[in-house]
Amino acid sequence: MEGKVFVTRKMLELDKIREMFPNCEVWEGDCPCPNEVLVEKAKYCEALITQLSDKIDESILSNPQLKVVAQVAVGVDNIDLAAATKHQVVVSHTPGILTEACADHAWALMMAAARNLIPSNKSIYEGKWTAYDPCGFLGNDFNGATMGIIGPGRIGLATARRSKGFNMRLLYHGPHQKPDFDELGAKYVSLEELLRESDYVVLTCPLNAQTRGLIGKEQLEMMKKTAVLVNIARGLVVKTDDLYDALKNHVIGKAALDVTDPEPLPKDHKLLFLDNCVVIPHIASATFRTRAAMSMISANAVANVFNGKPVEFCANKGVVPK
Ligand code: GLV
Repeated sequence: MEGKVFVTRKMLELDKIREMFPNCEVWEGDCPCPNEVLVEKAKYCEALITQLSDKIDESILSNPQLKVVAQVAVGVDNIDLAAATKHQVVVSHTPGILTEACADHAWALMMAAARNLIPSNKSIYEGKWTAYDPCGFLGNDFNGATMGIIGPGRIGLATARRSKGFNMRLLYHGPHQKPDFDELGAKYVSLEELLRESDYVVLTCPLNAQTRGLIGKEQLEMMKKTAVLVNIARGLVVKTDDLYDALKNHVIGKAALDVTDPEPLPKDHKLLFLDNCVVIPHIASATFRTRAAMSMISANAVANVFNGKPVEFCANKGVVPK
């Protein structure tokens, strides 16, 4: 296919993508592509294959030859969807394929936080583990505990399903009641009830006007003193300073964060010095199989647009392609 494609980051399946698109250029840097480079490339490319760290605004989307932005992620909060639709740019993304990997990761985070895996591991490397300690690194149970899912989409559902093996009670909160959650025996509750009742509060919602800053001081104060907050959504859903204060003052028990605001956190950020906070560098979908599939969904979306066909996963439904 002859169209010019710019890939903003090295990723899996690039050999296949280069074969599909001989006019493909890849940002080869080890850091995200600088915005000024992206702006320049967008002036002559018909397709951009983007990452969630790229800011895709109207200055990029208004380029008359640009037909498609294929985002290698499910979240598209970095893309101005209204501007894309206005300028007839199709935005593709990768829902579904990463659901199970992300749900696995939510559990990995929950367990790491609940069972003190990071501080206890650190204690060994620091030479502090001298003998079995009957009172050392006591954590939280899962069996019989309550899990609250905020954002009952696919990833929330897959995370909730895994709780069945742990004999947990399930609550969920979101804009609408969801039959698939109800079938699982989960109870649809207000945000306040979920926060007050849950031992594990898991954020799996998209970032939008309703969820930005959803969890701040007031909400953290509603949570149990032992509760674990897990964020695999977006950093901006939680007010970072309020979370720091809540962890530092033991208003809540622990947090496990795959995503942060800012992202990445500077290496001297105060959150990184708390023993009750696990911070992971936004890797929920990072398995070989999932990331390879995400790359190919994005490449196929570009091919479809070049061939005048609809894309499999369109984030701006109703767009009229150029
Ligand atoms: C990851 O955060 C994604 O949106 O795919």
